[in-house]
Amino acid sequence: MTRQETTANALLFLAAGQFSPTNLTAHALERMAADPDLFIAFRDDPAVRPKVVNELLRFATPEVGVTRMTLEDTEVAGTVVPAGSAVYLLLASANRDERVFPDPDRFDYTRSP
Ligand code: HEM
Repeated sequence: MTRQETTANALLFLAAGQFSPTNLTAHALERMAADPDLFIAFRDDPAVRPKVVNELLRFATPEVGVTRMTLEDTEVAGTVVPAGSAVYLLLASANRDERVFPDPDRFDYTRSP
């Protein structure tokens, strides 16, 4: 890689590697502070931990969205996005889609998916 590419990647890793884990950890602490039973379950039952993390990622999505470029005209929900467009996809919104997650505003680590 060129020096410029190395610097750009180092900055990307610094930013990407810091904010998402920080956000997720903060959301986890906030939720467990508000719900001591959740904290106890997380602390005492290793089987519960991945479920809690998955539900935290859905409920309080630490990386709100991602950017993509369309390579061709692409229809999304009746709207054509022209080729070459930058599209910001809201993961946090998708994670609260009531067509996928019943009662989406409820934190429930027993849900599947
Ligand atoms: C809770 C932890 C983390 C979450 C939820 C998370 C989430 C994400 C998401 C959603 C993306 C966008 C992926 C996409 O565009 O499809 C991403 C990209 C990225 N993450 Fe993380 N991340 C986490 C931790 C980390 C850590 C610890 C590092 C590095 C030390 C890191 C480095 C990166 C990099 C370099 C990218 C950009 C990849 C690319 O565009 O090719 N992430 N992350």
